[in-house]
Amino acid sequence: MKEMSFLMLKPDAVKRKLSGEIISRLENKGLKIVAAKMLIITPELAEKHYGEHSEKPFFKDLVDYITSGPVLAMVIEGGECISLIRKMVGATNPKEASLGTIRGDYAIDTGRNIIHASDSPASATREIALFFDDSEICSYTLPDEELIYEEP
Ligand code: RTP
Ligand code: MG
Repeated sequence: MKEMSFLMLKPDAVKRKLSGEIISRLENKGLKIVAAKMLIITPELAEKHYGEHSEKPFFKDLVDYITSGPVLAMVIEGGECISLIRKMVGATNPKEASLGTIRGDYAIDTGRNIIHASDSPASATREIALFFDDSEICSYTLPDEELIYEEP
């Protein structure tokens, strides 16, 4: 089933010039970028995006981290892509993330774990609406979709 997920390259990923590498992984998997923008997140938007963590001891550090430079926010479309992208991203603590995952290959500390991805369909819907207008999401077909999906 086709889904849309919200994915964000955090400021450390952008500043470490890992955007191309990470986008290549998504494209090589067969996933489709349907929206993308670079922005510096305001503290207000950070607090909404990570609202579920507002009572956690790491919340202030998290807001400081995510607002510390530009992020690359994206909407990705693909078959069951919400859980698939979480697998590609790997565990929250990069030291526990399997090698071969994005965090496992490119990050070391939890507070510098380079990428965010929606953890459920409800989160994806909420996060996409927080960052993008409907008009910014592009509907198009990849030429090789029948090579990627049995039933495109
Ligand atoms: P994300 O939301 O960024 O995709 O990460 P996640 O689902 O894997 O992990 P989550 O529990 O939602 O935590 C959000 C982000 O907060 C930072 N964090 N720090 N110091 C800590 O114990 C701690 N725990 C989480 C990480 O940047 C994590 O990605
Ligand atoms: Mg999360």
